[in-house]
Amino acid sequence: MERTLSIIKPDGVSRGLIGEVIKRFEKEGIKIAAMKMLHLTKKEAEGFYAVHKEKPFFDSLTDFMSSGPIVVMVLEGENVIQRNRDLMGATNYKEAKPGTIRADFATDIEKNVVHGSDSPENAQKEIAYFFSELEIH
Ligand code: PPS
Repeated sequence: MERTLSIIKPDGVSRGLIGEVIKRFEKEGIKIAAMKMLHLTKKEAEGFYAVHKEKPFFDSLTDFMSSGPIVVMVLEGENVIQRNRDLMGATNYKEAKPGTIRADFATDIEKNVVHGSDSPENAQKEIAYFFSELEIH
Protein backbone atom coordinates (compact mmCIF):
# COMPACT_ATOMS: atom_id res chain seq x y z
CA MET A 1 0.00 0.00 0.00
CA GLU A 2 1.39 3.39 -1.02
CA ARG A 3 0.48 7.01 -0.30
CA THR A 4 0.80 10.15 -2.41
CA LEU A 5 -0.03 13.83 -2.09
CA SER A 6 -2.55 15.33 -4.49
CA ILE A 7 -3.34 19.03 -4.78
CA ILE A 8 -6.24 20.59 -6.65
CA LYS A 9 -4.62 23.90 -7.60
CA PRO A 10 -6.28 27.35 -7.40
CA ASP A 11 -7.49 27.14 -11.02
CA GLY A 12 -9.19 23.78 -10.33
CA VAL A 13 -10.90 25.08 -7.18
CA SER A 14 -12.04 28.39 -8.72
CA ARG A 15 -13.39 26.64 -11.83
CA GLY A 16 -15.52 24.21 -9.81
CA LEU A 17 -13.47 21.11 -10.60
CA ILE A 18 -13.09 19.70 -7.06
CA GLY A 19 -15.86 17.14 -7.49
CA GLU A 20 -14.72 16.19 -10.99
CA VAL A 21 -11.17 15.45 -9.81
CA ILE A 22 -12.26 13.53 -6.71
CA LYS A 23 -14.74 11.51 -8.80
CA ARG A 24 -11.90 10.34 -11.02
CA PHE A 25 -9.86 9.16 -8.03
CA GLU A 26 -12.80 7.33 -6.45
CA LYS A 27 -13.83 5.72 -9.76
CA GLU A 28 -10.32 4.24 -9.97
CA GLY A 29 -10.69 2.76 -6.48
CA ILE A 30 -8.16 5.18 -5.00
CA LYS A 31 -8.84 5.88 -1.32
CA ILE A 32 -8.88 9.46 -0.03
CA ALA A 33 -7.15 9.08 3.33
CA ALA A 34 -7.01 12.81 4.23
CA MET A 35 -8.31 16.05 2.76
CA LYS A 36 -8.40 19.80 3.56
CA MET A 37 -8.79 23.19 1.92
CA LEU A 38 -6.04 25.76 2.45
CA HIS A 39 -5.03 29.15 1.11
CA LEU A 40 -1.21 29.12 1.11
CA THR A 41 0.83 32.21 1.81
CA LYS A 42 3.57 33.00 -0.71
CA LYS A 43 6.14 31.73 1.85
CA GLU A 44 4.25 28.44 2.32
CA ALA A 45 4.09 27.94 -1.45
CA GLU A 46 7.83 28.68 -1.70
CA GLY A 47 8.48 26.10 1.03
CA PHE A 48 6.45 23.47 -0.78
CA TYR A 49 8.20 24.07 -4.12
CA ALA A 50 11.68 24.65 -2.59
CA VAL A 51 13.26 22.02 -4.91
CA HIS A 52 12.36 24.27 -7.85
CA LYS A 53 13.73 27.51 -6.36
CA GLU A 54 16.37 27.97 -9.07
CA LYS A 55 13.87 27.44 -11.91
CA PRO A 56 12.82 30.45 -14.00
CA PHE A 57 9.15 29.73 -13.28
CA PHE A 58 9.55 29.57 -9.46
CA ASP A 59 8.24 33.07 -8.69
CA SER A 60 5.29 32.79 -11.04
CA LEU A 61 4.41 29.26 -9.85
CA THR A 62 4.47 30.24 -6.16
CA ASP A 63 2.44 33.42 -6.89
CA PHE A 64 -0.14 31.24 -8.62
CA MET A 65 -0.20 28.58 -5.90
CA SER A 66 -0.80 31.26 -3.25
CA SER A 67 -3.43 33.10 -5.33
CA GLY A 68 -6.47 31.24 -3.95
CA PRO A 69 -7.64 28.19 -2.03
CA ILE A 70 -6.36 24.73 -2.87
CA VAL A 71 -7.52 21.25 -1.84
CA VAL A 72 -4.79 18.97 -0.52
CA MET A 73 -5.37 15.23 -0.22
CA VAL A 74 -3.52 12.10 0.79
CA LEU A 75 -4.37 9.32 -1.65
CA GLU A 76 -3.82 5.70 -0.71
CA GLY A 77 -3.70 2.52 -2.76
CA GLU A 78 -1.46 0.09 -4.55
CA ASN A 79 0.99 1.87 -6.86
CA VAL A 80 -0.98 5.08 -6.23
CA ILE A 81 1.88 7.47 -7.07
CA GLN A 82 1.99 6.27 -10.67
CA ARG A 83 -1.78 5.72 -10.92
CA ASN A 84 -2.39 9.31 -9.81
CA ARG A 85 0.13 10.63 -12.34
CA ASP A 86 -1.53 8.56 -15.06
CA LEU A 87 -4.90 10.13 -14.17
CA MET A 88 -3.33 13.63 -14.13
CA GLY A 89 -1.54 13.42 -17.49
CA ALA A 90 1.68 15.20 -18.51
CA THR A 91 2.71 18.48 -16.83
CA ASN A 92 2.37 20.21 -20.18
CA TYR A 93 -1.31 19.75 -20.97
CA LYS A 94 -0.56 19.83 -24.71
CA GLU A 95 1.35 16.55 -24.25
CA ALA A 96 -1.21 14.99 -21.88
CA LYS A 97 -3.06 11.90 -23.13
CA PRO A 98 -6.75 12.35 -23.98
CA GLY A 99 -9.02 11.57 -21.04
CA THR A 100 -6.51 12.71 -18.41
CA ILE A 101 -7.37 15.54 -16.00
CA ARG A 102 -4.87 17.93 -17.57
CA ALA A 103 -5.83 17.10 -21.15
CA ASP A 104 -9.47 17.69 -20.27
CA PHE A 105 -9.14 20.81 -18.09
CA ALA A 106 -5.68 22.47 -18.01
CA THR A 107 -5.37 25.85 -19.73
CA ASP A 108 -1.60 26.37 -19.61
CA ILE A 109 1.58 24.82 -18.22
CA GLU A 110 1.11 26.65 -14.91
CA LYS A 111 -2.67 26.43 -14.58
CA ASN A 112 -2.69 22.66 -14.89
CA VAL A 113 -5.36 21.90 -12.27
CA VAL A 114 -3.57 19.26 -10.19
CA HIS A 115 -0.28 18.34 -8.57
CA GLY A 116 0.84 14.82 -7.66
CA SER A 117 4.00 13.57 -5.94
CA ASP A 118 6.49 12.01 -8.36
CA SER A 119 8.33 9.51 -6.10
CA PRO A 120 7.94 7.73 -2.75
CA GLU A 121 10.54 10.06 -1.16
CA ASN A 122 8.76 13.20 -2.37
CA ALA A 123 5.36 11.78 -1.44
CA GLN A 124 6.53 11.29 2.13
CA LYS A 125 7.96 14.83 2.33
CA GLU A 126 4.97 16.46 0.66
CA ILE A 127 2.42 14.63 2.85
CA ALA A 128 4.34 15.68 5.97
CA TYR A 129 4.31 19.32 4.74
CA PHE A 130 0.52 19.41 5.06
CA PHE A 131 -0.63 16.59 7.33
CA SER A 132 0.21 15.07 10.68
CA GLU A 133 -0.13 11.29 11.00
CA LEU A 134 -3.24 11.86 13.18
CA GLU A 135 -5.04 13.51 10.25
CA ILE A 136 -4.55 10.55 7.89
CA HIS A 137 -7.28 7.94 8.12
S1 PPS B 1 11.14 20.05 -13.80
O1 PPS B 1 11.88 21.21 -14.30
O2 PPS B 1 11.03 18.97 -14.76
O3 PPS B 1 11.62 19.61 -12.49
O4 PPS B 1 9.73 20.65 -13.58
P1 PPS B 1 8.34 19.92 -13.72
O5 PPS B 1 8.34 18.69 -12.86
O6 PPS B 1 8.02 19.78 -15.14
O7 PPS B 1 7.40 21.00 -13.09
C1 PPS B 1 7.47 21.31 -11.73
C2 PPS B 1 6.30 22.17 -11.39
O8 PPS B 1 6.44 23.44 -11.99
C3 PPS B 1 5.36 23.73 -12.86
N1 PPS B 1 5.88 24.30 -14.08
C4 PPS B 1 5.69 25.55 -14.44
N2 PPS B 1 5.02 26.53 -13.87
C5 PPS B 1 5.00 27.71 -14.52
N3 PPS B 1 5.60 27.96 -15.70
C6 PPS B 1 6.30 26.99 -16.30
N4 PPS B 1 6.91 27.25 -17.45
C7 PPS B 1 6.37 25.72 -15.67
N5 PPS B 1 6.96 24.55 -15.99
C8 PPS B 1 6.65 23.70 -14.99
C9 PPS B 1 4.68 22.42 -13.14
O9 PPS B 1 3.29 22.61 -13.34
C10 PPS B 1 4.98 21.63 -11.91
O10 PPS B 1 4.02 21.87 -10.92
P2 PPS B 1 3.52 20.67 -10.00
O11 PPS B 1 2.68 21.33 -8.97
O12 PPS B 1 4.74 20.01 -9.43
O13 PPS B 1 2.72 19.79 -10.89
